[in-house]
Amino acid sequence: MTDINTIGVIGAGQMGGGIAQVFAAVGYDIFLHDVEEERISAGLDAIKANLGRQVAKEKMTPEEADAAMARFHKTPAFEGLKDCDIVIEAATENVEIKKDIFRRLSAILKPDGIIATNTSSISITALAAVTDRPERFIGLHFMNPVPVMKLVEIIRGIATSNDTYETSRVLVERLGKTMALSEDFPGFIVNRILMPMINEAIYTLYEGVGTVEAIDTGMKLGANHPMGPLQLADFIGLDTCLAIMQVLYDGLADSKYRPCPLLVKYVEAGWLGRKTGRGFYDYSGDVPVATR
Ligand code: CAA
Repeated sequence: MTDINTIGVIGAGQMGGGIAQVFAAVGYDIFLHDVEEERISAGLDAIKANLGRQVAKEKMTPEEADAAMARFHKTPAFEGLKDCDIVIEAATENVEIKKDIFRRLSAILKPDGIIATNTSSISITALAAVTDRPERFIGLHFMNPVPVMKLVEIIRGIATSNDTYETSRVLVERLGKTMALSEDFPGFIVNRILMPMINEAIYTLYEGVGTVEAIDTGMKLGANHPMGPLQLADFIGLDTCLAIMQVLYDGLADSKYRPCPLLVKYVEAGWLGRKTGRGFYDYSGDVPVATR
């Protein structure tokens, strides 16, 4: 197994920040990279605030939170990732952006460094193929919010070696999280099941079967889901939901995965959910208000 001490994280947004936070909290040195230094600073501010909340709830001591923050290295220059034992990519869910990152990473990362992607649906095998090390490439799919959710999906590409898999399995264990092993097919396990459910909830709204509130209340109280499917869609981001449905539709070539036209329209409008202040709910006030 490869010995992991230093972890590079590409992307300081919600997912990358969460991933960086949980690894720093269990003692790893983190090299955090994003395209602009301000984004790294904003990511670190969010991590600091999250750790502060854990201190307030007495789930962590102030010393532990300070020690976790001290393990971060701001890494605005891509080359700063070159000595990491593993680099986890959590950039935008766009295949060309990811491939570009992996080509550049292959050129600088030390030969025995592992590359992992947090993609939620893109083929691990296809992403690995643009690197110089498909055997040291793997999918590590974290769930949002990363510090809270217990699961990490591990996805082996066709060329992923046993060493890379074992190293990743132990890393997930060190986080105190549980893994589910998925074969490399569109959407893996979680999104293959979750996204068609969300898409169907949007069809239910589109066809006038129920209101936003009725659909969400139905699934929260009727199926014991912590969030209703439309609330969850807003939380994940409607652009991400659409991108994943498109991967399922294209990759599995089955009309049952066609994205709901209402989801497409919301994304065209720029109503992407919580992050833009409007999706199936309007978030401008104190309490979210259903928009249909
Ligand atoms: N970051 C860090 N911690 C957070 C958080 C965030 N963004 N949001 C909530 N929390 C923490 C809270 O601090 C709280 O912690 P304590 O228990 O220590 O007090 C805990 O989570 C519960 O939060 P709340 O009491 O405020 O709210 P809640 O009970 O409604 O729980 C939730 C919030 C955990 C998000 C819950 O609603 C939930 O589990 N929702 C479903 C989330 C889900 O399905 N995620 C998967 C999405 S799919 C995905 O990520 C894959 C993909 O590729 C799209």
